[in-house]
Amino acid sequence: MRIDIISIFPKMFSAVLDESIIKRAQIKGKLNLFIHDLRDYTLDKHHKVDDRPFGGGSGMVLQVEPIYRALAAVKKKIKGKSRVILLCPQGKKYNQGHAKKLSKCTNLIFICGHYEGIDERVRLHLADEEISIGDYVLTGGELAAMVVVDSLVRLIPGVLGDKNSLNFESFEGNLLEYPQYSRPAQFKNWRVPEVLVSGAHHKIESWRRVQSLKRTGARRPDLLQKNKG
Ligand code: ADE
Repeated sequence: MRIDIISIFPKMFSAVLDESIIKRAQIKGKLNLFIHDLRDYTLDKHHKVDDRPFGGGSGMVLQVEPIYRALAAVKKKIKGKSRVILLCPQGKKYNQGHAKKLSKCTNLIFICGHYEGIDERVRLHLADEEISIGDYVLTGGELAAMVVVDSLVRLIPGVLGDKNSLNFESFEGNLLEYPQYSRPAQFKNWRVPEVLVSGAHHKIESWRRVQSLKRTGARRPDLLQKNKG
């Protein structure tokens, strides 16, 4: 997969995307990642990317022209189709199902919104979809882009070492993951549940299933409703 990110803060990305699984995905050749500074696509000597809103109001609006130019330049480098995603609080709320769909794309381009807003023509004419990572406002789309990239790249086949680690994790089948324990079996007087050290695989499986259901019911009853619907 190829991912391009267009941002006015390109330096924000390396600490997250050049580490751990995402770094490994790039080394393995599963991911080609390119970060673009929006200011490189301006024509004026001040590299201006924002201006005051028409009609008045506070704050600055990210302009359509540099984004148009950046997208055109990035798309020239991409063979085939690409999907353009705008990160903004007005977008569709992101979830694991969405991550799965995006992990099947060949080329993704992320535009990070900023300041008080972004020219509406980016939404209307340039973005294929808008994503929000939750009902809160970040200072910009950069962190949101990193969240989305992290969550989808780990779903690309071959990126995670252990296939099974994807099978049982939270949100699979709209359930939260069951409790996990590791050695020692007892620490202070905190014991690992007996069934897990019993070696009885069928019992362990059904214990985990029950725990998953209980935990989901207690913490995320909305997910159980989805299973019914
Ligand atoms: N930019 C600012 N807040 C955001 C959010 N919640 N999701 C995506 N992009 C954003």
